[in-house]
Amino acid sequence: MSKVVKNVEYGLEKIFEGAQDFLPLLGTDYVEFYVGNAKQAAHFYKTAFGFQSYAYKGLETGCKDYASYVLAQDKIRIVLTTPLSSKSPINEHLAKHGDGVKVIALWVEDATKSFEETVKRGAKPFMEPTVEKDEHGEVVRSGIYTYGETVHIFVERKNYKGIFLPGYSAWKSDYNPTSVGLKFIDHMVGNVGWGEMNECVKWYEEKMGFVNFLSFDDKQITTEYSALMSKVMSNGNGRIKFPINEPAVGKKKSQIEEYIDFYEGPGCQHIAVATDDIIKTVMELRARGVEFLSAPPHAYYEDIPNRLGKHMDMMKEDMNVIEKLAILVDADEEGYLLQIFTKPVEDRPTLFFEIIQRMGAKGFGAGNFKALFESIEREQEKRGTL
Ligand code: FE2
Repeated sequence: MSKVVKNVEYGLEKIFEGAQDFLPLLGTDYVEFYVGNAKQAAHFYKTAFGFQSYAYKGLETGCKDYASYVLAQDKIRIVLTTPLSSKSPINEHLAKHGDGVKVIALWVEDATKSFEETVKRGAKPFMEPTVEKDEHGEVVRSGIYTYGETVHIFVERKNYKGIFLPGYSAWKSDYNPTSVGLKFIDHMVGNVGWGEMNECVKWYEEKMGFVNFLSFDDKQITTEYSALMSKVMSNGNGRIKFPINEPAVGKKKSQIEEYIDFYEGPGCQHIAVATDDIIKTVMELRARGVEFLSAPPHAYYEDIPNRLGKHMDMMKEDMNVIEKLAILVDADEEGYLLQIFTKPVEDRPTLFFEIIQRMGAKGFGAGNFKALFESIEREQEKRGTL
């Protein structure tokens, strides 16, 4: 028996086998990065991005293989992990990919069932269901591979009252820069290689029960020089959104190809984090040294009333401030959105962040793609990789 369920919030229609979603997801649990020096990376994310010290695991807590620093800001949790010796398998990942996202962890009711349902449909196992315990209760985790060497870990924490996961201690620090107003993860984008996007889309449909609710072809995402294609995947309740990009042929090198070259394979391209006051957040981030892509030409800002149409009256932000901060503005049927992209946060031109404020719009800033990519191309030109 199948049942059509309409997702009111995102207008998604999804056909479930049986009465319910086989992989119900409650939200993003955490994002884990493998980095060369977690202690220093943690300082950067606290100072520059306003994350707070949250939990720690390492030599002092009895973990001899690696050190992990957990940082939090509102609902966002990031984990920075570094191996403590040459014997750790994490080194291979680091040598190949550089600093980057290893784990996109998803919060679930039942991690064992999540593993069984996805593996039965063909997902490659990364971690068998594992129970971890301490005096605060127990957590069950399991994991599967997604694109490249990136993994999804399912986290079941309904029987846990501790700080993060068993084995972690609360991390108290004397250095506590304030938050910059980042609230939650809006979406996370994956880059895959030539001809691999549809395969990846099919993987999310089959193995995880996601639906493709927006697609952009290379004619929509193109500049004079380079192009890419993108399909946005969403889970049933719309809380988890993963756009998937692949390079497309242009006169010069696609930014997606540049990523794949430097990451040496598919991986997470950007993490979009939501704020409800982008002007305040971006002013704060800039003051703390976060580097953003340069502003599009003035004509882009003159054209905003055309792009916003009926939503222009709703817009409260001062256009001069928006332009000065290089924030981009786009609209869809339901409202508008403000967004801005950082430069890559590592020396390899790989992972970057997006800051986004949605004012009703559900899209991903398609109207900004051209301006954005021209800005990325100016950076590629400087790197000699265009
Ligand atoms: Fe994005």
